[in-house]
Amino acid sequence: MKKKINIAIDGPAGAGKSTVARQVADNLTFLYIDTGAMYRALTYKAIEKGIDLEDGPLLKKLLDETVIDLQVGEKEQHVLIDNRDVTTDIRSYDVTNNVSFVARQSEVRKEMVKRQKLLANKGGVVMDGRDIGTYVLPESELKVFLSASVEERAMRRYKELLENGIEADFERIKKEIALRDKRDSEREVAPLVKAKDATEIDTTSMTISEVVNSILQLAKERA
Ligand code: C5P
Repeated sequence: MKKKINIAIDGPAGAGKSTVARQVADNLTFLYIDTGAMYRALTYKAIEKGIDLEDGPLLKKLLDETVIDLQVGEKEQHVLIDNRDVTTDIRSYDVTNNVSFVARQSEVRKEMVKRQKLLANKGGVVMDGRDIGTYVLPESELKVFLSASVEERAMRRYKELLENGIEADFERIKKEIALRDKRDSEREVAPLVKAKDATEIDTTSMTISEVVNSILQLAKERA
């Protein structure tokens, strides 16, 4: 049987990568892998253990002792660390605003990339993150870079919080998203950047299904 293609989806915070990637994967019966969740899981465990979030070697040691599992769930992907479900915990304010510090440690990235490559070695994977097209799966048949204005990304997040009955401050969300982008784009190792051969889709005025359909069309052409 012909090997299935791999699809890499990168882009800044809140560009809709995970929603889109999941739907593309469901449609193609591919496996969806949220690499941001892996960095979040390690950050969560490091905070819990009171580890310095900029101590690369210590974080790497913690990662070596940690099993991160991504499981397909009914409505969302479940994230487990050492068999403990932390799906909701890793989305906390604390983890969100600290994950970039952990993610910029080269020792951590090396190990994460190793695990991510392994997950994708059989093909048939939709993987989303910041460095998938550039470092993790540079050979992937389809690379997409999703972008949207910071205003739009903050608005999506703001609405999502309100819909879940959580009080939110739009200006603060916008500032935090911009700061996370800055940290992710300016780091030395594997910064957030569009791969040369990636197709950029500006989702600012697109619906989710429009974005999903354009990726499915591109996938059809590459398969
Ligand atoms: O995708 P998400 O917003 O959940 O990612 C959380 C953080 O994890 C990012 O802000 C970034 O610091 C880090 N990350 C990364 N490389 C990836 C995926 C995520 O550095 N491939």
